[in-house]
Amino acid sequence: MSDRDSALRRISRGPWRRTYGRINKVNTKSGGLMPREAEHVTSPFSPGYGRRPLVFGGHKEELDELTEVFRTLDFGENHSVLISGLRGAGKTSMLTMLQDAALEHGWLVISDDASSGLMERVMDTAIPSLLDKLEPATRTRLAGLGIWQLNAQLQYVDRHRQVKPLLRTDLIALSEHIGQAGILITIDEVSSGKTRLRELSRFALEVSHALQGGANVMIVFAGIKVDLDALLEQVHTTFLRRSKQLDFRRLTPKETRRVLEESIRIGGREIEEEALVRLVAVSQGYPYLVQLVGDYAWRNTPSALRISVADAEVAHEKAIKAVQRRVISRVYQDLSEKDREFVQAMAQDHGRSKISDIVNRMGVSAQYVQVYKRRLIDTGYVKADGHGYVAFSLPYLGDYVRSMTAERDEPVASRDEWDDFPPPPSV
Ligand SMILES: Nc1ncnc2c1ncn2[C@@H]1O[C@H](COP(=O)(O)OP(=O)(O)OP(=O)(O)O)[C@@H](O)[C@H]1O
Ligand SMILES: [Mg+2]
Repeated sequence: MSDRDSALRRISRGPWRRTYGRINKVNTKSGGLMPREAEHVTSPFSPGYGRRPLVFGGHKEELDELTEVFRTLDFGENHSVLISGLRGAGKTSMLTMLQDAALEHGWLVISDDASSGLMERVMDTAIPSLLDKLEPATRTRLAGLGIWQLNAQLQYVDRHRQVKPLLRTDLIALSEHIGQAGILITIDEVSSGKTRLRELSRFALEVSHALQGGANVMIVFAGIKVDLDALLEQVHTTFLRRSKQLDFRRLTPKETRRVLEESIRIGGREIEEEALVRLVAVSQGYPYLVQLVGDYAWRNTPSALRISVADAEVAHEKAIKAVQRRVISRVYQDLSEKDREFVQAMAQDHGRSKISDIVNRMGVSAQYVQVYKRRLIDTGYVKADGHGYVAFSLPYLGDYVRSMTAERDEPVASRDEWDDFPPPPSV
């Protein structure tokens, strides 16, 4: 199915229908007779965490390969997938794309995030609710296994008393009885707190036992790279080292252009070529920013049929401010103290930085700087830029770091009226 078809399908199912059903007919059928004014104001862009885009750019090969597994159950190396990438690079959106593809092929889908209580949520809520949606004949077969108690209407009541109910048993039983389909488990927001990792590792162990028991399960974890790396270091997660690893960075210029152009067209408007080129350049292919800049350009004159260069100009300023506030600030918080020192040393240059200058600015050994350079390159914040140089690979991170450093260096706040009433020392 083409992007456009799937987008239209989503529109015709969702709240978009009211606004776009009519407009799309106008666009596709009226040919040259386009109305001079757009008849609606709703933006087709979706800036925001975890908001699946109307047009999903890039990652086609990976999506096709994993969708093929949903179709054929021929897993190859695809029993487990790790999606890493910077904040706002599209990990959660990819999980949603995979869930939809799995559902279309009749798979069961369990989606959760790595917050505490994961195992209980999956076993006590997600699996019972999946059971209740299965065909009655399947439920009858499952009721006979003695794992779950179902009532006369074949609705889940409780678990049968077992010494210790195990997720692996649930997964194997479900997988064996749902016919030519499997179970997709997606776990978003992997984070590397100690307790979290212990819990995730326990969860992963159960999944690996289910796989050994022959269950058709695909498990996908998403998170920033340092957290996924920490997950792989856990005792029970060795099987995850063989995972398919996807690292989300930026979309190509071609895909960025397609996302902007298609979204605008599906939304029922047009865009001037020069304005489009401008939006592509501003976004730098960073998915969250693509949505932000498209959205601001759209909203500037929502009733005009065509998005103009003036709209793109207004969007430029606003989108960069918004991406720094909403996304880049979080990226910066993800950095360790030392990583921050490194990027602060880099940010003193506009453009690329010489490694030897960073060594001097940080006042540490060259070897030490190399370790941090490697780490930052690995996680996608920084890229090598010619021999002995590095540059920011995340657009606008440098500007953000400079603004943070300037804030820190500002003189301490001026006196206020409370300065005459200092808090008394404790007695
Ligand atoms: N492939 C894509 N094409 C176009 N837009 C995208 C794509 N992926 C994500 N987006 C948009 O980018 C924004 C961020 O996406 P998402 O929340 O999936 O990122 P994330 O990697 O999960 O971020 P975080 O690490 O903070 O959880 C959303 O507005 C989403 O609509
Ligand atoms: Mg996310």
